[in-house]
Amino acid sequence: MTTMTTHWIDAAAHGDVPEDDVIGLAIAGRDIALYGVGGEVFATDNICTHGHARLCDGFLEGHEIECPLHQGKFDVRNGMPTCAPVTEPLRSYPVKIEGGRVWLALD
Ligand code: FES
Repeated sequence: MTTMTTHWIDAAAHGDVPEDDVIGLAIAGRDIALYGVGGEVFATDNICTHGHARLCDGFLEGHEIECPLHQGKFDVRNGMPTCAPVTEPLRSYPVKIEGGRVWLALD
């Protein structure tokens, strides 16, 4: 029997993730977007799957992030596309809040 151990990475202070907004961070060599929605934090890759635009420069409304380049949209909870022209999902990552910090599982 094998045991999978989740490797959590300390990404940010919870207070550094603004409510109803998005920030971009370099974490473990990756460009990650963190979204504050309804007291929760969600994490996805920060680069749009349609072109080379950073989603942290986009507009967050509810659980949807709008890409700043062609206004495609994704659901930040699971990275799924919700509006053309995006068709490929974003990679999303598990998040936990513990000790006032935001932890991500990037593997
Ligand atoms: S680059 Fe994001 S919608 Fe085109």
